[in-house]
Amino acid sequence: MIESHNATTESQSPSITIRPAKAEDVPEIFELIGYWAAQGKMLVRPIQNIFENLRDFFVAEINGETGPQFAGCAALHILWGDIAEVRGLAVNPEITGSGVGKKLVAACESQARALGIPTVFAWTYSVGFFEKCGFTLIDKTKNLHPRVWSECLRCPFYVGCNENGMIKRLPGVAMPQNLPEPPPAQTPPGIR
Ligand SMILES: CC(C)(COP(=O)(O)OP(=O)(O)OC[C@H]1O[C@@H](n2cnc3c(N)ncnc32)[C@H](O)[C@@H]1OP(=O)(O)O)[C@@H](O)C(=O)NCCC(=O)NCCS
Repeated sequence: MIESHNATTESQSPSITIRPAKAEDVPEIFELIGYWAAQGKMLVRPIQNIFENLRDFFVAEINGETGPQFAGCAALHILWGDIAEVRGLAVNPEITGSGVGKKLVAACESQARALGIPTVFAWTYSVGFFEKCGFTLIDKTKNLHPRVWSECLRCPFYVGCNENGMIKRLPGVAMPQNLPEPPPAQTPPGIR
């Protein structure tokens, strides 16, 4: 059971490790995303969806006296050859504000770079956080990459979407050549 209290003053510069997720991490990932989803901060993610996309996920661990402790997670999901989405980003509420979220996003960006994908995207309510990570708020009614709508059909806010779209062009990563055209998007009502 996750309990929320801000422990940033308790943990002074904790040592944080980011690593690829393993099958045994899934229950903690599922619980943490469920915790924040219940508070309306992110989209709930079924546990089978986490298993199916496990290779997308990173896990953050805090290295304490009792060994590594699960501190958060994020996923980088490839949408097309030129864009990947940061999804399932969640930090243990006891240690928000300790730099874990930023490190998780940096790990997603590193992976996008390694794959030669020049743009990362996120749907989020945490605009200020993503701005700190170098993302820019976009106008979601205007000419977005059609693949960014890929998960919207399973979202309870498909009609009346109130999430913010944020994008970051990764410096130094060239646009891949000869990309095929993505299929047209099934956009939510009110979105062109
Ligand atoms: C949003 C979230 C991932 C941020 O993680 P975190 O570990 O607390 O953030 P960090 O400590 O890495 O913060 C990085 C920077 O962003 C700032 N920041 C963090 N959350 C912020 C917010 N909600 N608004 C504005 N700035 C924020 C921090 O002050 C810090 O600034 P600095 O670099 O100047 O010191 C975390 O609070 C969380 O899990 N929230 C609930 C779930 C969620 O919103 N997920 C995102 C869905 S896409």
